[in-house]
Amino acid sequence: MTVSSLTDGQAVEAARFRRALAVHASGVVVITAQSDGVPVGLTATSFSSVSLEPPLVSFYVDRSSTTWPRLGAADHFAVNILASDQSELAARFARKSVDRFAEPTRWRPGPLGAPLLQDVSAHLICLPYETAQVGDHVLVVGLVAEADVHRQGRPLLYHQGRFGRFLAHPDS
Ligand SMILES: Cc1cc2nc3c(=O)[nH]c(=O)nc-3n(C[C@H](O)[C@H](O)[C@H](O)COP(=O)(O)O)c2cc1C
Repeated sequence: MTVSSLTDGQAVEAARFRRALAVHASGVVVITAQSDGVPVGLTATSFSSVSLEPPLVSFYVDRSSTTWPRLGAADHFAVNILASDQSELAARFARKSVDRFAEPTRWRPGPLGAPLLQDVSAHLICLPYETAQVGDHVLVVGLVAEADVHRQGRPLLYHQGRFGRFLAHPDS
């Protein structure tokens, strides 16, 4: 441990920070929205539940994201919770210079218009509740208006820069 950084109040070195965060496994979602008739979406692992009453969820988006201006302007957004067999979809929605909604992506417009990806574990439809600038990201909090579970299967996970599957403990 670099004790000096603790005592002099400095932030941890970037590579060290990234190495530690990579150890933390997370679920994977694709946030989608429609703005001026254009579907937009990006893969995110920063998704989290926030509050039960009212029902709130959150994610963080990089301030340099080219998707964020349209996503942030939309009157609602969808959280598509990916299933274990959807790693290619996750990679596609993180890739630049591709039409993320073109074939082989399968999607349909949701009840309010935001694109819903096919074959995901669940969809949440969210109304913008709060945003805040936090460091180099924007915290986006959504009020959940609709929640539909489609598949009770295994989730897609992300760990150490790789996609993977969940394996339950035999004794749990
Ligand atoms: C597994 C994974 C998780 C990601 N999580 C986030 C995230 O939580 N927030 C974010 O802003 N970008 C995240 N990204 C990056 C975005 O998916 C995307 O690459 C980025 O927004 C660049 O595209 P854009 O300029 O179209 O926004 C993640 C990428 C991957 C592969």
